[in-house]
Amino acid sequence: MTSKSPDSQLMEKIVSLCKRRGFIFQSSEIYGGLNGLWDYGPLGAELKRNLKNYWWQVTVHERDDVIGMDGSILTHPAVLKASGHVEGFSDPMIDCRTCKAHFRADQLVEKKGIKQCPNCGGKDLTAPRQFNLMFETHVGAATDESSIAYLRPETAQSIFVQFKNILEVSRKKLPFGIAQIGKAFRNEINPRNFTFRSREFEQMEIEYFCRAEQGMELLEYWKEERLRFYEKIGIPRTKLHVLTVPDNERAFYSKGTYDIEYDFPFGRQELEGVAYRTDYDLSQHQKASGKSLEYFDEETKQRFVPHVVEPSAGVDRTVLALICEAYSEDQAPDEKGKMETRIVLRFHPRMAPIKCGVFPLLKNNSQLVAKAKEIVSLLRPHMTVFYDESGAIGRRYRRQDEVGTPFGVTVDFETLGEKDAARRDTVTLRDRDSMKQERVAIQDLPAILRDRLA
Ligand code: GAP
Repeated sequence: MTSKSPDSQLMEKIVSLCKRRGFIFQSSEIYGGLNGLWDYGPLGAELKRNLKNYWWQVTVHERDDVIGMDGSILTHPAVLKASGHVEGFSDPMIDCRTCKAHFRADQLVEKKGIKQCPNCGGKDLTAPRQFNLMFETHVGAATDESSIAYLRPETAQSIFVQFKNILEVSRKKLPFGIAQIGKAFRNEINPRNFTFRSREFEQMEIEYFCRAEQGMELLEYWKEERLRFYEKIGIPRTKLHVLTVPDNERAFYSKGTYDIEYDFPFGRQELEGVAYRTDYDLSQHQKASGKSLEYFDEETKQRFVPHVVEPSAGVDRTVLALICEAYSEDQAPDEKGKMETRIVLRFHPRMAPIKCGVFPLLKNNSQLVAKAKEIVSLLRPHMTVFYDESGAIGRRYRRQDEVGTPFGVTVDFETLGEKDAARRDTVTLRDRDSMKQERVAIQDLPAILRDRLA
């Protein structure tokens, strides 16, 4: 029997925590699950929302040169024909004739120069054939060739297709970007590594339109911007790596592509691609639709198809990176002072699903409970709050540590002014990471916490 590597053990702990605490569940689990599809539970949904909201805030709200859109998931086949997806969005697939499993060609194992099935070790394999990753459906009552539509495999295409409309309504001047967050679907041959490679996922994409001569410079600019973004959500630069995609692996129309990679427990893998796609996409849609997608420069009186730089990030992969990065175990004393292993998700406070736990010291003391509930009402307009009165206080701290809640407020007898009138209406504020506690006035809590969450 082979023992598991520390990294696969870590991944198992992360997957189990995600289920136990309601971050991520297998889709359709009670029916045996559907491979490559995931549902986010209460905490996972908050985490994902925090990530998307922050991306939208820094990408759209805090910039003058980027505007947002929200396109449809079903896409006219002509769009995906023009973009090249109908012809070419495929992976080479191989079948194992022994166990009947299907694999992406790059996932076969090679022993002594002989390719083998990674499932059963069988050597009786078919030749690779192209498998299109798009999900096809029909729009309307007819189910013939004329009604075919696809679930979009990337959000980018609706940005290109709406370029002219958005240019007209926003009256932006080059360079400017259009941003979108939304679902994308790929019928991946081998979904794997938890949510890393899924069949339904979300992307956060920017198409940043520019003049041809600005393309290479903007590629560098966006690579740096995106690295800074990951640092701001708690993924340190030391765990991020920039891969310059070699000429022979880049899309033929791209003049430069970087992959931003992260050190996941299962290896270094892509989080985001930043690509200079030239004027390929707009030119393709202009040709196929017969509609001009040119930009008119008022100053120079030139008319031309803009080029584009595209930072394309995965929401689900970033959520997974946030969880992997946050997961830690340390030693902390239990109720009786005995050291025990504490699981802590050290999320950046900005990303944490719950910002503050509120605990009355005892649940059977109506004054403590009433005060704690007052604090919940005071904080709720500003942040997500979780009220917990059950179990020993140490256990309640542990439960919040395990889901990454950065702050805990405890209402005790000093809050009621029983020991010292000067301490009336003060509470202890506990920090998740240092476990240090300080005494603060209830009325100061919103400002203190808002400051620390910023
Ligand atoms: N518009 C460009 C584009 O879609 P991509 O490299 O195919 O480029 C961009 O995808 C990002 O989308 C990836 O870096 C990754 O974060 C995410 N992504 C792609 N396929 C995925 C999958 N099967 N599961 C989860 N995320 C995926």
